[in-house]
Amino acid sequence: MPLALHPLQAARQPLLHAVRTLSPLRRYLHIEPLSSHEIRRRFLDYFAQNNHTIIPSSSVVPHNDTSLLFVNAGMNQFKHVLLGTEAPRHRRVANSQKCIRAGGKHNDLDEVGIDGRHHTYFEMLGNWSFGDYFQQEACTLAYHLLVDVYKLPKSRLYMTYFGGDPEVGLQPDFECREIWRRIGIAESQIIPRGMDDNFWAMGEEGPCGPCTEIHYSMDGSAEKLLEVWNLVFMQFNRTRRGILEPLTVKHVDTGMGLERLVAVLQDRQSNYDTDLFLPLLQKIPELAGTPPYQSKFGDDDHEGLFTAYRILADHARMCTVAIADGMLPDKRGAPYVLRKVLRRAALTWSNKLHSDPLLWAQLVPTIVQSLGPAYPEIAEREAVIQATITKEIEDFKGIVDKGTKAFGKIWQKLENKMVLPADKMYELYRQFGVPEEVIFGLARGRNMGCDAKGFYLLMDQERVKSREGLARKKEQVAQ
Ligand code: ALA
Repeated sequence: MPLALHPLQAARQPLLHAVRTLSPLRRYLHIEPLSSHEIRRRFLDYFAQNNHTIIPSSSVVPHNDTSLLFVNAGMNQFKHVLLGTEAPRHRRVANSQKCIRAGGKHNDLDEVGIDGRHHTYFEMLGNWSFGDYFQQEACTLAYHLLVDVYKLPKSRLYMTYFGGDPEVGLQPDFECREIWRRIGIAESQIIPRGMDDNFWAMGEEGPCGPCTEIHYSMDGSAEKLLEVWNLVFMQFNRTRRGILEPLTVKHVDTGMGLERLVAVLQDRQSNYDTDLFLPLLQKIPELAGTPPYQSKFGDDDHEGLFTAYRILADHARMCTVAIADGMLPDKRGAPYVLRKVLRRAALTWSNKLHSDPLLWAQLVPTIVQSLGPAYPEIAEREAVIQATITKEIEDFKGIVDKGTKAFGKIWQKLENKMVLPADKMYELYRQFGVPEEVIFGLARGRNMGCDAKGFYLLMDQERVKSREGLARKKEQVAQ
């Protein structure tokens, strides 16, 4: 595999490795870490130099695929090529894909802010081979990018491979293990893992296959591994009945989370401490007049304030990107998820920052500065994005005001003020039109729990009743 590496660069490798692993030395020598723009650019340049065609990110709104709410991986736009029902336009492709994981099989909404790794919106750097190279070249390409271009020390890389699964009749991927050995990865850093970790599928059905994951050790030990890159060897189509049908042609599908890679290369423990998020985390307290951001998690974040900042930054990016791609908040499907995320941010802003959630819309220009150069559509639609978010929050504030009044009346009459009963939740929902997320938020605001189970049961009963009513009507018409 020809690799774009100048001999002089190669000679400087050991020194650069040492510098990169010794952060204080790096700081002393004033070696700036790479910016996220540069990291993205180097990925694309590297694959272009290795004969890949660089294509733009597709929209996050899935095209021609009802199995998805949002585009959640770089391979989505190639699903039919992978399945063999569409001819590839190029044999080797790479891109940087806008992805949203806020619903469906890959859903990270509830993890956001709690740890430093999960996001509803993220960018996936990927390269593909459609019936061209396979495992050997895919692993070699990935390895040299990390070690020669990004200068990551080989000693910090841990590779997992598919360890097989007798239940589904799949053998361990020893070929992959052998490739990593040949590349020179130490035996102790090549680890087998099962179906859950090392067999990747786009959804319940569709293209899938065993994968090898490249992990980076954050502290040099095998204990603190961060998955950075997933290389999938697409070999099957999982049918609706769960059967794995072999594909006639094998392909490579890879995905590396830009935010994680940036955290590694900028030597940060959390993705939020990188140049992708810090401008937002600085802007939020500026707008709200709250304390500056600190990278604190879990119990260290006593009031949950910094977790709230992270949620707000994440959700602002997700909403900006979805609206830039033409989605508008609405009542059903992905537009409803967008509405829910927007409302969640508005509630977080008012409940945790005690400030007007309309200010949250003012994060849009900061996001445009960060993502606009890579995705021009975001910069082009800046005014529309800001206006859409503002209008949605204004409407939502009206709903919350109405809900707060109705809730206040109900609350006064409650004997037990610890838990909001299901029938009262239902009353708010049905009679006053208060959305469920607002009901939960209002109760939280009074330090109350909710009988969520009972509430959903009542909602289900209503659905059954209305379905039965509809069936009766149909019968009467037929008679
Ligand atoms: N499609 C693979 C993933 O999303 C690369 O992890």
